[in-house]
Amino acid sequence: MSRRLLVTGGAGFIGSNFVHHVVEHTDDHVTVLDKLTYAGNRASLAGLPEDRVRFVQGDIADAPLVDELFAQTDAVVHYAAESHNDNSLHDPRPFLDTNIVGTYTLLEAARKHDVRFHHISTDEVYGDLELDDPERFTENTPYNPSSPYSSTKAGSDLLVRAWVRSFGVQATLSNCSNNYGPYQHVEKFIPRQITNVIRGIRPKLYGKGENVRDWIHADDHSSAVLTILDKGVIGETYLIGADGEKNNKDVVELILTLMGQPADAYDHVTDRAGHDLRYAIDSTKLRTELGWMPRFEDFEAGLASTIDWYRENEAWWAPAKDGVEAFYAAKGQ
Ligand code: NAD
Ligand code: DAU
Repeated sequence: MSRRLLVTGGAGFIGSNFVHHVVEHTDDHVTVLDKLTYAGNRASLAGLPEDRVRFVQGDIADAPLVDELFAQTDAVVHYAAESHNDNSLHDPRPFLDTNIVGTYTLLEAARKHDVRFHHISTDEVYGDLELDDPERFTENTPYNPSSPYSSTKAGSDLLVRAWVRSFGVQATLSNCSNNYGPYQHVEKFIPRQITNVIRGIRPKLYGKGENVRDWIHADDHSSAVLTILDKGVIGETYLIGADGEKNNKDVVELILTLMGQPADAYDHVTDRAGHDLRYAIDSTKLRTELGWMPRFEDFEAGLASTIDWYRENEAWWAPAKDGVEAFYAAKGQ
């Protein structure tokens, strides 16, 4: 049966991948609510059928607008956030406004309209692991966020849990690992390095490059979220990951090799303050209880198709590139 979905942040990286996935795999109708900050891009939704996808430009903290949209909605998937750690070290305030106050505004509307709500969060709420820690993050790992970004995401998760328990809001949560794929902003690690190589700039590795991230293709994140929306138990949290641990040095070297450059043609630059060492997700609960499986299990193949996408879509990323590089250059990165 066709649902009316409201997708916040649907013009961002993972939100737009989700909207494409929903149009392809369901009969649902989507309304995107997106403020179009520097990270949002209408072009990420280009080509989608107008009778299936409606776009509303607005702020998730705008309570009257949110109220109006929730009255026309069966389920909400909440992606909108300030999402970049490096920006949160430079200016934390927008992270509080959107990630905390914005999420609060949506929860109050979900409570009033009794709308099914799915909250998108991150593995970063659990802090970081040692390189040799045999345990990975599970739904029972204590919260221990490190950055202004991850602490505001942790705060938003706790608000969702409190609104479920105190007010009976019909919500589920998911915490996913690092996504890669098309439509990711050039401020982020993988697109920054790919577009650097396209532009003839040497990739920039923070510190020694030993930090480990657990990579998942954005389309697999989307299929996991649809699975939780359909089959998830209200009040429950599900960790989403595809067993994709890699250190940053290996990822940069793979990008260079796939792009026909010498594997060592990159620079070490100033490390990120408070840089989390390692993230790793144990997604057993999602796989065994809800039957989800990732489709993109070959990271090298997924990375190669992502490189192709950035080669073919320079018009999508070029307008942001110079400003991002100037921001990093000013910090020695
Ligand atoms: P992004 O920065 O690419 O996109 C965020 C989107 O939200 C943009 O379109 C922006 O315009 C919109 N937005 C920001 N503030 C808003 C506001 N106040 N009102 C309405 N719209 C607003 O982010 P992303 O990487 O796609 O991340 C999406 C979500 O997934 C976030 O909640 C993030 O915490 C979470 N997440 C990201 C990753 C990752 O690897 N990128 C991993 C796990 C979880
Ligand atoms: O784990 C999920 C999180 O993944 C999400 O919650 C965040 O929204 C998302 O941005 C991402 O956070 P990271 O900080 O891990 O991603 P980022 O792409 O910024 O950096 C990935 C790694 O690469 C990290 O160890 C820092 C490093 N890095 C990053 C940049 C931009 C570099 O070495 N060089 C760079 O130029």
